[in-house]
Amino acid sequence: MAALKLILLAAFLFLFNFTANSTALPTSFIKTSCKITTYPQVCVTSLSVYAPTIKRSPQQLAQTALSVSLDRAQSAHTFITKLNKFKGLKSREYAALKDCLEEMSETVDRINKSVKELTRMGSSRGKDVQWHMSNIQTWMSAAITNENSCADGFAGRALNGRIKSSIRARVTHVTQVTSNALALINQFPAKH
Ligand SMILES: *[C@@H]1O[C@H](CO)[C@@H](O)[C@H](O)[C@H]1NC(C)=O
Repeated sequence: MAALKLILLAAFLFLFNFTANSTALPTSFIKTSCKITTYPQVCVTSLSVYAPTIKRSPQQLAQTALSVSLDRAQSAHTFITKLNKFKGLKSREYAALKDCLEEMSETVDRINKSVKELTRMGSSRGKDVQWHMSNIQTWMSAAITNENSCADGFAGRALNGRIKSSIRARVTHVTQVTSNALALINQFPAKH
């Protein structure tokens, strides 16, 4: 029975990692803009698919980066929710999963709020721009902190190798796209 559970778990981890990675040619605008981010390669790969929407608009670029970040955070949250339903994990693993679920749930909320705030910022002027910007910076930084603490929760040696590496890889990717989105948003008002 324990063996069956492990096989199911392995199958689940495998299938969930099968995400379609469409390859679109990055435009020079996306490549140039991504240079200022901390993870330029991840930036180019995650945004190129949306090149037709982004065109050469810094606002579209920032909005798209934020949507990608929300989407990945939501998907990591779903993944961890499903993993948490598996029977037969160690209690230390359930504890880490539970903490991580709370953290990722807050993360999804904060990125979601930032999406709306960026839309408001796009139609604001002067001091209002700074106000919306500072809200976005606060929420996105808090989101990154939560993502890091989720990943840290899975750093312990006591945890199952496959679960640990699967979650850490996923959450680390979320942190990278979140950090990139924040960098692209930060440079966007400078161009107004
Ligand atoms: C974002 O917030 C809206 C409500 O303002 C909600 O309907 C939507 O489901 C949220 N999206 C995510 C991914 O949580």
